[in-house]
Amino acid sequence: MYELVRKCLFCLDPEGSHDLSLDLLGAAERLNVLGFLTKPTPQNPVNVMGLTFPNPVGLAAGLDKNGDYFNALGQLGFGFVEIGTVTPRPQAGNPQPRLFRIPERQAIINRMGFNNFGVEHLVKRVKKRRFPGKLGINIGKNKVTPEDQALDDYVACLEHVYPHADYVTVNISSPNTPGLRDLQFGDALKHLLDGVKARQETLAKAQDRYVPIAVKIAPDMAEEDLTDVANTLLNAGMDAVIATNTTLDRSAVQNCPNAEEAGGLSGAPLSDRSTQVIAELYGVLGEKLPIIGVGGIFNGDTAVEKLRAGAKLVQLYSGFIYRGPGLIHEVAEAIKAHQHELSASLNTVGAQPQSQPDGEVAERHAETPEDALLPNDGEAESEKDKESEKDKEPEKDKESEKDNRAEGVESSNIIEPK
Ligand SMILES: Cc1cc2nc3c(=O)[nH]c(=O)nc-3n(C[C@H](O)[C@H](O)[C@H](O)COP(=O)(O)O)c2cc1C
Repeated sequence: MYELVRKCLFCLDPEGSHDLSLDLLGAAERLNVLGFLTKPTPQNPVNVMGLTFPNPVGLAAGLDKNGDYFNALGQLGFGFVEIGTVTPRPQAGNPQPRLFRIPERQAIINRMGFNNFGVEHLVKRVKKRRFPGKLGINIGKNKVTPEDQALDDYVACLEHVYPHADYVTVNISSPNTPGLRDLQFGDALKHLLDGVKARQETLAKAQDRYVPIAVKIAPDMAEEDLTDVANTLLNAGMDAVIATNTTLDRSAVQNCPNAEEAGGLSGAPLSDRSTQVIAELYGVLGEKLPIIGVGGIFNGDTAVEKLRAGAKLVQLYSGFIYRGPGLIHEVAEAIKAHQHELSASLNTVGAQPQSQPDGEVAERHAETPEDALLPNDGEAESEKDKESEKDKEPEKDKESEKDNRAEGVESSNIIEPK
C-alpha cells in the first residue's frame, strides 16, 4: 500500500511531497483514522538515560522541525520522536531546492539549513502533547549567530524546551550551518558542553526535574577525533550520544543524478559508516554512556546491527521516507526477536552516575537484564517518568496543524511566528 502512496508522492518535488505527507498525516490524526491505517508496534520497553521508552524505535530529528506533527507521527508506532532542530529565533533556511532524492541508492541529500519557526513556536506546539511515548527536542544555533556565541543560542533553547522535553539533543553535526561542525572539537566542544551542563544543573534544581542531554555527532570524523569527542562527552557529564547525522562523503553515490548537490547525504549509503562510528564510540564509552544509533536503517537487520555495535535505541529517517510506516513495525519486531541475544547489551543502560536535581550523584541502572526490559504495565515507570507526566497537557488540540505550519513564510527570508 505504501509502495503506491510513495510512487505518487515521489512524482512531486521532494519538499512538496514532504509537506503534503505531513499535512495528510496531521489530517488523518485529527479525523482519528490513523489507528485503522497502522498496525500496533510490539511493546518492548527499554530503559535508557533513566527514561522508559515503550519501544526502542524512534523518529530522527529533522522531519518535524517545528513540533507540528509529532502527535500524529507518534501514532504510527514510534517509541520516541525527536523534534527540531529548533533555533532560538525563526529562520528560513537555505533557498530551495534544498532536498534531493537519489532513489537508485535509497538516499537523500539535504541542505535545509535549520528552516524553522523558532523555539517559541515549538514550545506552543509541545504544550499540546498527546503522544504517550518519549519526546526528544533537538536544539541548534541560528545561522547568523557567530560561532563564539553559539553557547548563548543552545542555552536559550535549552531554557525554553526544558520543561517540555523528556530529553534534549544538542545538535553540533549538521553540515548545513556554516561552522557548526567545528563545535565538535577541542576547546570549542568542552566550552559548549560545560556551559550546557551548568545550565542543565540549574534548571534541574529550579524545576526539580532532571532532563537528560544527548549530543548528536557527525560520521565524518577520524577515529582519534571520535575518541576525543567520546571522552569529552563523558567528562562533561552528558547523558547520551546520537550517532550519526548525515555525511559529506559521496563515494557511495558517485555518478548518480543529484550526487553532486551540496549538503548532507543520508539513507542506505550511510548505514555501514554510522554502524562503524557506533562501534568505535562503544569501544571508548562501553556502558558508561548510552548510544542512540541512526543512519541508513532500512530493515530489521540494519537496526539489529546498530544494537550489536553498541546502540541502545535506534532512530529512522530516510528509511521511513522510502519504506513508510511499516518500517517502524518491522524494526521493532526484529529487535524484539533478537531480544535474548541483545539483552546483554541492553541491560545496563543508564549505568553512569548522573547529576540529580538535588545536586547529588546517583547510580541509575538496571540491576538485571529483566529490569532494563521493563514490562509496560505502568507500574514499572521510573520516578523521572512520573514527574514528566505532570508536565503533559493532554487536552486535544483542535486547531488546524496545517494552518499553524503555514504561519512560516517558506520562500522568504523572514519567518514571523504567531
Ligand atoms: C531532510 C533531512 C533533514 C534533516 N534535518 C535534521 C535536523 O534538523 N537536525 C538533525 O539533528 N538531523 C537532521 N537530519 C539528519 C537525520 O536526523 C539523521 O541523522 C540522518 O538522516 C541519518 O539517518 P537516515 O540515514 O536514517 O536518514 C535530517 C535528515 C534529512 C534527510
